Amino acid sequence: MKKELQSINLQNIPNHIAVIMDGNGRWAKSKGMQRVFGHRNALTAIRETADAASELGVKHLTLYAFSTENWNRPKLEVDALMSLLVTTLKKELPEFQRKNVKINAIGSLTSLPKNAQKVLNEVIEATKNNTHFTLTFALSYGSREEIVNAIKNISKKVVNNEIEIEKIDDKIINSHLYTFNLPDVDLMIRTSGEQRISNFLLWQIAYAELHFTDVLWPDFRKEHLYNAIYDYQNRERRFGKTSEQIETNE
Ligand code: FPP
Repeated sequence: MKKELQSINLQNIPNHIAVIMDGNGRWAKSKGMQRVFGHRNALTAIRETADAASELGVKHLTLYAFSTENWNRPKLEVDALMSLLVTTLKKELPEFQRKNVKINAIGSLTSLPKNAQKVLNEVIEATKNNTHFTLTFALSYGSREEIVNAIKNISKKVVNNEIEIEKIDDKIINSHLYTFNLPDVDLMIRTSGEQRISNFLLWQIAYAELHFTDVLWPDFRKEHLYNAIYDYQNRERRFGKTSEQIETNE
């Protein structure tokens, strides 16, 4: 079932989409190629998805590019992914500027190789005043680690009398996460047929709709994003309320 742009209700576009880009390795293997070939071809899917999302009025796209667990992959693959990140960021910077895209990153960024940190910081700095669309890369990211760090930092502030325990609420926790400057996720997409969250944005997807597709990430195109948004638009987001309350806007 391929959805066309016309099927999408432009009045109900998710504000924040997060994607678990899975299946690069299997895609490459199915073509008799090395896994890295899949990662390289993932870039077309990233470009298409970011362009299509921004054209539709999505404001935030967050991509799971490298998890804390991905450090356990063979060194050759890790090195290739880091070098792909660096070359892509450098090459795409003029396009980010032309399209008014702000680049953001979440994760344990100090774990990245020095050169990747440097290029990433340069691109974040160069695009910090762009306003049309925010593209966030999750790099060396793990949601539990993010939450543990937030708890540690809040605890330190409690000990220093900067925060009262009774005042700790959703907002305070949000403001201590890597995603402090992002809204909650509305739609999370995972490709390649796996139906797991894999430690991605556990706190931020509390009310998100989840869309799973069998498409392998390097094959993901605009139409697949339209499918996911169509799916999102045909669910009823109740946030714990009843259908009747949603209908009468109570
Ligand atoms: C999942 O496929 C993909 C990754 C772990 C890496 C995602 C990285 C990119 C798309 C490129 C990074 C570049 C930039 C610019 C962010 P998999 O390798 O787990 O596939 P498999 O499940 O089929 O083995």
